[in-house]
Amino acid sequence: MRLLSHSDSLLFRLPMQNWFDVVKKLDFHALEAAKRANLDTSIFSPDVHPADPRFGDAQINGALPYAKRLKTNPREIARQLVSQLERDTELASVAEISIAGPGFINLRFKSDFFLSWLQAFSTEEDFQASASKIFEGERVVVDYGSPNTAKQMHVGHIRSIVIGESICRLLEFCGADVTRDNHIGDWGTPYGKLFYAYKRHLDESALKEDPLGELERLYKLGSQLANDDDAVLEECREELVKLQSGESDAIALWERVNQLSIDGLTEIYDLLDVHFDHYLGESFYRDQVERVYDELEKAGLAEESEGALVVFHPEHKRYAKQPFIIRKSDGASNYATTDLATMLYRLEHFKATRVIIVTDDRQKDHFEQLDLTTKKWFEKTGRSRPDFRHVMFGKIMGDDGKPIKSRSGDPIRLKDLVYESIDRAYAIVKEKNPHMTEEELRQIATTVGVSAIKYADLSPNRMSNYVFSWEKLLSFEGNTAPYLLYAAARIQSIFRKAGASTKIDESKATAFETEEEMALARKIMEIVGILQSTIETLRPHILCNYLFELAGVFSAFYNADKVIVDDIGIKTRRLILCQRSLLVLKIGLSLLGIKTLDRM
Ligand code: ARG
Repeated sequence: MRLLSHSDSLLFRLPMQNWFDVVKKLDFHALEAAKRANLDTSIFSPDVHPADPRFGDAQINGALPYAKRLKTNPREIARQLVSQLERDTELASVAEISIAGPGFINLRFKSDFFLSWLQAFSTEEDFQASASKIFEGERVVVDYGSPNTAKQMHVGHIRSIVIGESICRLLEFCGADVTRDNHIGDWGTPYGKLFYAYKRHLDESALKEDPLGELERLYKLGSQLANDDDAVLEECREELVKLQSGESDAIALWERVNQLSIDGLTEIYDLLDVHFDHYLGESFYRDQVERVYDELEKAGLAEESEGALVVFHPEHKRYAKQPFIIRKSDGASNYATTDLATMLYRLEHFKATRVIIVTDDRQKDHFEQLDLTTKKWFEKTGRSRPDFRHVMFGKIMGDDGKPIKSRSGDPIRLKDLVYESIDRAYAIVKEKNPHMTEEELRQIATTVGVSAIKYADLSPNRMSNYVFSWEKLLSFEGNTAPYLLYAAARIQSIFRKAGASTKIDESKATAFETEEEMALARKIMEIVGILQSTIETLRPHILCNYLFELAGVFSAFYNADKVIVDDIGIKTRRLILCQRSLLVLKIGLSLLGIKTLDRM
C-alpha cells in the first residue's frame, strides 16, 4: 500500500483499513472535542455513523441524547462541539463540518481525502492486505456441495455449491486458511438396492457414457423391484449386510461405484470452476462412531430411549421431546452419528477454528441439535469447539410457484441446466457480435452462461426462495451477471480506446470536483465495509447488491463526465476512477466465483 501523501492529517497518516476505521477515528476526535468543550464525558457518547451521502459522509449524533439527559438545547451542544471540532486541525483539513436539524453534526470529506484513499488502495493486494486481518490465523473447514452419491445432481444442488464456493473465496480473501470438504453421502441403505440391480441389470456402455445417470437408473430399478417383490427386498437387505460387515466383494463394488460417482461429480464441478480439497463423506467416519457413543455416554449426555441412544436438550422447547437420535434402535449409526464424528475430526485433524456447513433449510433442526450436542460434549471433555455456522438457503421455484421441475415432472439435471445456459448465452452473444470468431464466441458464452446461473443464485438473499427465470438471469439489464460482466468489459474498452494502459501516472491527478466523481469515489470506498458485512452474515447477496449499485454509479459518472479530455489532471483522476471501479468489480465478481471478460 502506498503511503498517503495528500495531507499531514492524522486521519491520513494512520493506516486506514476500512470505512469503519475512519468512523472510529472520528469517534476519537469527537470525544476529544467534547472534553475541550467541557461536556460531561462520562455521559457523552459521540455516536458516529456513516451518513446518507446526500447529507454528508459521516454523522456525529451524540449531542441529542446528551442534551435530552441534561434537559438543555441540543443545537447548542452541537454548536459547542462543532466549534471545537473546527479547531482540530487534523479534522478540519479533511472535512467540512456543519449542523443539521435539531443537532446532528454532519461531516463531508474534502475531495482530496477521497483521492488519497483511492491512491492508497490501487491494487488487489492493497485491498487484500487490509481484508486479510479479519480472519488472520483462522482455519476454516467449509462443508459444501455434499450430495448423496450414485445419483445425478439436479438443480437443487446448485445452491450449496455456488454459495459455498463464494464463502470459501470470501474467507480466503479475508485471511483464513480454508479447507474445502465435500461431505458426500456415500454410505447407507440405498446401496443394497443399487447393488442388487447393478449385478443383474447393468448397462456397461451407459455406465461409460453417463455414470451418474446409469447408477441412478439402477438404484431406481432396484427400489422398484424390491417394492414389488418381498424376495427381492430380502436380497437387497443381504447386499447391504455384506457391505456393512465389510465383505471384500461388496467393498470393492462400493469403491467402484464411489469412484464413478466422484468422477461424474467432478465433471460438473470443473465446469463451475469449483475444486474440493477432500471428499471425506459419511463412510469415512463409520469406524469412528463407537468413540462417539462412548464419549457421549460417559459425559452423561446420551441416554437410552425406546431402544435408541439419544441426546435430549430439555432447555430448548423444541428439542425437549424430540431428541437427537445418535444410534437407531436396530443398533445402526445414522446421519447424526457421522456428523458428530465429523465435528471431532475437523477439530483434531484440521485444527479447525471454524466449521461452516452449507445445506438447504430443511436440515435446520439437525444442525441446531448438532450445534447444541457438540457444544456440551466438547465442553465436558475440555475441548474448544470450533465456531459452527449452518449456512442455510431456500428453494429454487418454477414460475408456477412450486419447486422447479422439468417438463416431464422429473428434477432438472444440473448438468443440463448449465449447458442450456451456455447455449442460450451463445445465441445472445452471437447476435450482439456477429463478427466474432467461433472460438471467442464459445469462450465468452461459457463464461456468461456459467456466471449467469451462479449470479442468479447468489443475488437473492439466500434465506428466501427465488423464482428461476432464463429471461431474467441472462438479461443484460438489471442485477445480473451479464450486466456486471458487460460493465467491466466496457471499462476495459475505455482504456483500449484511449490507448491508455491501466497503469497511469497517478500523481498527475487533480482533486475530484463534479458530483458524479465524488459519488463514484465514495461508492468505491464502500467496498471494504461491504466485504465486512458480507462475511459477518455469510450472505453474498450483500456483495451482489453493492456491485450492481457500483456499476450504476459508474454509468452515471461515465455519462456525465468525459474521461478522455485534454486537461491531464482531470483525465488522470477520471482514469483513476475507471481503473478502481474495474478493480473493485473484478475483485467482487471473483469473490462470487465469477470470471470477468476483457470484451463481450
Ligand atoms: N449429503 C447431505 C444431503 O444431501 C448433505 C451433507 C451436508 N454435510 C454434513 N456434514 N451433514 O442432504
